[in-house]
Amino acid sequence: MTSKDLIERYLKFFKEKGHTVIPSAPLIPENDPSVLFTTAGMHPLVPFLLGEKHPGGKRLVDNQVCLRTNDIDEVGDTSHQTFFEMLGNWSLGDYWKKESITWSYEFLIKELGIKKEKLWITCFEGDKDAHRDTESSEIWEGLGIPKDKIIFLPKEDNWWGPAGETGPCGPDTEIFYDVSEKPCGKICKPGDGCGRFFEIWNNVFMQYNKKKDGSFELLKQKNVDTGMGVDRTTAVLNGLDDNYLVKDLWREIINSIEEISQKKYTENLKAFRIIADHVRASTFVIGEGVIPSNKLQGYVLRRLIRRAIRFGKILGIHKPFLSEICESVISTYKGRYPILIKKKKEILSILIKEENKFTLSLKKGLKEIENIEKLNGKNAFYLYETYGFPLELTEEIAEEKGQKIDKKVFEEEFEKHKNLSRSASAGMFKGGLSDASEEVTKLHTATHLLHKALRIVLGEPVQQKGSNITSERLRFDFSYNQKLSDKEIKKVEVLINEQIEENLPVTFETKSLIEAKNEGALAFFGEKYGGKVKVYTVGDPKGNWYSKEVCGGPHVSSTKNIGRVKIIKQEKIGAEIVRIYATNK
Ligand code: ALA
Repeated sequence: MTSKDLIERYLKFFKEKGHTVIPSAPLIPENDPSVLFTTAGMHPLVPFLLGEKHPGGKRLVDNQVCLRTNDIDEVGDTSHQTFFEMLGNWSLGDYWKKESITWSYEFLIKELGIKKEKLWITCFEGDKDAHRDTESSEIWEGLGIPKDKIIFLPKEDNWWGPAGETGPCGPDTEIFYDVSEKPCGKICKPGDGCGRFFEIWNNVFMQYNKKKDGSFELLKQKNVDTGMGVDRTTAVLNGLDDNYLVKDLWREIINSIEEISQKKYTENLKAFRIIADHVRASTFVIGEGVIPSNKLQGYVLRRLIRRAIRFGKILGIHKPFLSEICESVISTYKGRYPILIKKKKEILSILIKEENKFTLSLKKGLKEIENIEKLNGKNAFYLYETYGFPLELTEEIAEEKGQKIDKKVFEEEFEKHKNLSRSASAGMFKGGLSDASEEVTKLHTATHLLHKALRIVLGEPVQQKGSNITSERLRFDFSYNQKLSDKEIKKVEVLINEQIEENLPVTFETKSLIEAKNEGALAFFGEKYGGKVKVYTVGDPKGNWYSKEVCGGPHVSSTKNIGRVKIIKQEKIGAEIVRIYATNK
């Protein structure tokens, strides 16, 4: 079975069970201030898991593109990838455990023809926050899964979310496929990492909201969130214990690496997998408009590209090679993601530029490393500054030499030079949805007021380039060629606070991107994969409105809730980009 078959069958199966098929949201969350990348199908759906109405109804299904960099170090084994597609079906306060589990079973056994004997199940064992999930285990038993193949595990294994610090989460039941049927000799059960069991599907019962203080409250509605990795499941369905052997996903890509390197995949597994994965991920990330940089998504992209180049050198490739592999990625995915064809020229040229930039310094840097007796935080920073070595690259080289770098020292150096964005610290790589708390929501609406006010005061060149919100402050990056004068800052603040004083309603409507733009909505993060967008209006959407923006939400319901906005700092962070910090305290 091909991945294409799997995706088509999944969407069709759930469509027949009353689900609306929705397009994948972008990999770079649109206008979402708190996330670097979409890391699971549920990310773009958080407002709906929290109770907002989705235009597609209460049952949804999709194939979502995701990027996870928190286990980037595991890439190189048989089953970890940074970029991947995730199939998922959702109940937004509609069906619950019985339907969810029964349909998963039906899809796997009846639709895909998996043998029942191959399945093992895990369920949540219970703790002080939520009880043991015997409801799920009983449903599985009712479907004929033997008791001894249903394993209860603690929160670390059988609880999913929140994706960030707070938000929707709950116990899950995970479905594993027994690849070898041979006991490993130890305890041998799903979750023990012995390699016999592959997790193919995760059904999360999102009933809780984790709060800032670490406690859990019940959500307004009981949701189901599921996730099935396309690479892994297609591998399993073809009897493969290596994702990279799935023909319609990897063959063309692996072939091109073999051709360029004149080496065999089977003899160089790790390097091949890293190059294949990283170029695939980079292709999609650049396809969404990111360019390599030292900040946020750009830094992650740079790290992926530079790591791929380094492993190319390990394979003995001594000429530029990324563009050729990228062409096979595009050729592999062009059917599902025609945007890649549209942007092919741009993607290739960005990759080539970054490759040329790094190749020379890599050579010099590696040479210099040979003469460094012991790698540490200080010289890691030197390598970063002088040769553009991402910290993680130096860490990896250190590890190969049996050495360890003190990250803290690196970061201290870095603070001193005030050069690297926060994204270099591990936390941001996770790309989790940080927070949908009340404070963050207020500041999120404040960014819309700010965006509009900046455009009124400074004119149309102002376009949002990024934002990041914590419960303490908002940060907003926009295109403009110089810092604001004190007078301009004052004007912007007055405009924002006037809208707050007027207590304007904040509402949203769902429409096509074209309609949204025709109405004058700001949309600088164009919808990449089609489908409808949400447009948030401050003011009367049909009459006198102050701001309209394409955005995923969430927002406060009226502006008075925001509090008084004050701009506390501004910086010029690039030739054409200014950053503003503001609070509402
Ligand atoms: N959100 C769940 C996951 O990513 C389904 O595994």
